[in-house]
Amino acid sequence: MSFRKILNEKVKKAFIEAGFDEKYAIVTVSNRPDLCQYQCNGCMAAAKEYRMKPLDIASKVIEFLAGDEAFEKAEVCPPGFLNLTVKDEFLTDYITKMSKDKAFLYRGENTGVSVIDYGGANVAKSLHVGHLRSAIIGESIKRILRFTGKTVYGDVHLGDWGLQMGMVICGIIEQFGLENLQTEEDRLKNITIKVLETTYPAKSQEAKENEDVMAECKRITFELQKGEGIYFDIWKTVLEVSKNDLKKNYGRLGVEFDLWKGESDVRDIMPEMIEKLKSDGYAYMDDGALIIDVTNETDNPPIPPFIVVKSDGSVLYSTTDLATIIEREESLNPDEIIYVVDNRQGGHFKQLFRTVEVTKTAKESLKLFHAGFGTMNGKDGKPFKTRQGGVMKLEDLINTIVEGAYEKIAAAVSNEIGEDEKREIAEIVGIGALKFGDLLNHRSKDYVFDIDKFCSFEGKTGPYVQYSAVRIKSILSKAESTEGVILPPEGDVQRDLFIMLTEFPYAVEGAASDYAPNVLIEYIYNLSVILNKYYHEYKVLSEADEEKRRSRIATLKLTLDLITKLLGLVGIDIPERM
Ligand code: ARG
Repeated sequence: MSFRKILNEKVKKAFIEAGFDEKYAIVTVSNRPDLCQYQCNGCMAAAKEYRMKPLDIASKVIEFLAGDEAFEKAEVCPPGFLNLTVKDEFLTDYITKMSKDKAFLYRGENTGVSVIDYGGANVAKSLHVGHLRSAIIGESIKRILRFTGKTVYGDVHLGDWGLQMGMVICGIIEQFGLENLQTEEDRLKNITIKVLETTYPAKSQEAKENEDVMAECKRITFELQKGEGIYFDIWKTVLEVSKNDLKKNYGRLGVEFDLWKGESDVRDIMPEMIEKLKSDGYAYMDDGALIIDVTNETDNPPIPPFIVVKSDGSVLYSTTDLATIIEREESLNPDEIIYVVDNRQGGHFKQLFRTVEVTKTAKESLKLFHAGFGTMNGKDGKPFKTRQGGVMKLEDLINTIVEGAYEKIAAAVSNEIGEDEKREIAEIVGIGALKFGDLLNHRSKDYVFDIDKFCSFEGKTGPYVQYSAVRIKSILSKAESTEGVILPPEGDVQRDLFIMLTEFPYAVEGAASDYAPNVLIEYIYNLSVILNKYYHEYKVLSEADEEKRRSRIATLKLTLDLITKLLGLVGIDIPERM
């Protein structure tokens, strides 16, 4: 049980014993640390129900708290606050237990199965910065939910089935000739990632300008979607080559998917789904297309009809998304599906979720949630572009920030550190800086990509937090032992640190409940700030008193362990030195 919950239970008991409802017994960290450590404001609310003065309620409740072993002080403060300060021994006892438990006494009580749909890369198109946020945020949500006890499946949901595929296949055939794409060996020889990178942009541009080319791409897409034949064979190779490359890119970011499924994985169940939508009377033909009306009078603006099949016979992004919900229900039976996708697809998800509701496609209790995110902007406030003005590829973006980190690292570390290690450190610090800078804001907000700011060792940044941790690592590596009895706090800074350490479950759960890693980032930063204060206030290795020295080392060890764990939940590593 969390420390604050233990206190809360005591206060609840006191409310009940004093004859009041326990629902008023909410304990928070004090916003007047000069007066007390914790407070309960419930007597003010209870006053209305019981038609009593808050002060009288508080005075009754406090009688049952005063003698408690946990509290150093339990006081009433007008007009009816309960001000609580815990005994150092009681707090220290908890901290000691925390330091001996792998999970820091946290037992996530969330249950159920979640699918996180994130990444969303498109096969044969390069990953771009828009996919970066999805990967970073989604990975973090996945890890956080898992830590709170949920069973979580992360699915990359590749874009591998639409017109884009027809375009790529068309371009490949043009370059190599169908006769050179007949065997798997030939295909693997010709279809390289370099080829894929240039083929799609060229073909889609061409198709935009030339109707005949577009018609051919559409024809190939239609043939491909039959699921057999040479186009399908070429498609399989494209998928394989592309997946291998994606795994490399995502791997560099520490993003790991449990499922490498895509839009195409529902190709076999779509015909049946479409038939059922028709026979249930939801879908009907309109101007050659098969559509479903999903809007109702209260929608303002109205939600446009859901197109199941286009007039040219092909299916759309929405069709595969709908079928994927069926597929996920059948294979994983989730309680919720969380889509970590750009805010600009808000309309798409609104329509999709409504369609599910109207057509009763999923069990009623299934929660569908669009965890939307904002745009990463350049310093000019517009969506981030390369210097040439194009959309920047993810790989280039990562290289840019790692380079930025390298410059800072090279200037900061001693010459003892060799070039290779500097590069390794820069990779960890650069990617950490990028993730921290991204996750710092609530996902729904736009933010400005600013390498200088992100890579700075000062302020609310990844490097600041990493550096705080690295410094502790270095001390601990020089300590004779990291085992030691943690003594009661030697002063306010340590007391604050202790209380802060016990508060982490609230950050984890706050982040989990709103799918918002920024809540956790904020906590990690605040913990690092207190850690740094502590570090500056107390000597550690040079402290002559052995008991004190050992206690301080053990305190640092606990803090480092917790920071390491929590940074792991947001996907940030800590280098050995920096
Ligand atoms: N591939 C899509 C894109 O690049 C994102 C997929 C998001 N997930 C989904 N189930 N629609 O925009």
